[in-house]
Amino acid sequence: MLTQTQTKARTLADLPPVETDSLLALIALCNADPRPEKIDVGVGVFRDGAGNTPILKVMKEAEQRLVDTQATKAYLGVSGDKRFADLLRPIVLGNHADDDRIAGLQTPGGCGALRLGFELIATANPTAKVLLGTPSWPNHAPIVRGVGLECVEYPYYERGQGIIRFEDMIAALKTGEPGDVALLHGCCHNPTGADLSEDEWRETIEAVVDRGLIPFIDIAYQGFARGLEEDAFGVRLALDRCEEVIVAQSCDKNFSCYRDRVGALFVKSGSKSVTETAMAHVGQRAREMWSMPPDHGAAAARIILDDPELRERWLVELTAMRDRINSVRQRFASADPRLAFIGRQYGMFSMLPLSKDQVLKLREDHAIYMADSGRFNVVGMGDDQIDRFIGAVTGALAA
Ligand SMILES: Cc1ncc(COP(=O)(O)O)c(C=O)c1O
Repeated sequence: MLTQTQTKARTLADLPPVETDSLLALIALCNADPRPEKIDVGVGVFRDGAGNTPILKVMKEAEQRLVDTQATKAYLGVSGDKRFADLLRPIVLGNHADDDRIAGLQTPGGCGALRLGFELIATANPTAKVLLGTPSWPNHAPIVRGVGLECVEYPYYERGQGIIRFEDMIAALKTGEPGDVALLHGCCHNPTGADLSEDEWRETIEAVVDRGLIPFIDIAYQGFARGLEEDAFGVRLALDRCEEVIVAQSCDKNFSCYRDRVGALFVKSGSKSVTETAMAHVGQRAREMWSMPPDHGAAAARIILDDPELRERWLVELTAMRDRINSVRQRFASADPRLAFIGRQYGMFSMLPLSKDQVLKLREDHAIYMADSGRFNVVGMGDDQIDRFIGAVTGALAA
């Protein structure tokens, strides 16, 4: 018999079950479906007209150069490839690139940047609340809660009408206390595709300034909406207007190197010395979590950005991805007035006003796999599958 002080040790056998990530479960279901006509619009990767996610030609060349010239694989340090982060600065920060109150470092993808940025916030202010519009990318709230911060959700999107609940958003931001964080999508909102207009950005950042909030901008799809410069509008505005700003950048999508985990975190504070202290904390947190980011993808991206000819070729391939996204959106929008909202949105995702049952029926009857929320990847299918997809979806909307 155990005495009261000898309570039974807890072991791995005491772990509760984990609810599986519904998107990962969807991928597994789709993979197991033998129907050759199946369409997977659940997974969030760009597909070209032939339905493939090819490695960019310019990336292949940069990788080859890397293999041919890399002399060592010795450790690089917690900041990873410094030149990569330096070359990214003008792309994301624009004319703030030379501001010595802004420091950046390479991270394992956008996820790594988000985690590290929130680690920094939690270290500085463990009682900060993070204001998050919903729906959002499903990993946002877990990352925020994972560092021990409270996540306060507000409604961002009206799915039935395909519009942003902008007044609700501003009202929610106005409930924030100084030092709280506003987590915002830089462009190509995931999962809705509904981006703030430039006027809405201005009003949002004014509310942020007014309440003394810290804008934390997640920019994972720069170049997929209107262009590299245009897509950074919100980031640059926040840098214009706010003393403290955090930017989590993913390059996994715009360099199409998803599994290589390429990203960066930028931190702005009120002075160079505060930023140096912040980055020392960031380095410490990174060291505890992954020590150093993986090198390969960022090194290849650095080779591209460092060479004018390769950079130009990257821009051409990036433009081709953006053009495909926007032309598929227009194809949806012109197919049916109920899909017109898709043409007014940006990036790879939109949300169809379908019930869970309708989503399930699309899966059963048409082998179309999308998230239960109705989120789908507009470039998740090849050109030859678009009409069948539109037919099935409009049929479901009419039912
Ligand atoms: C909004 C958003 N932020 C961050 C990420 C993470 O990007 P990465 O794959 O580079 O970690 C994603 C990826 O899907 C995303 O959609």
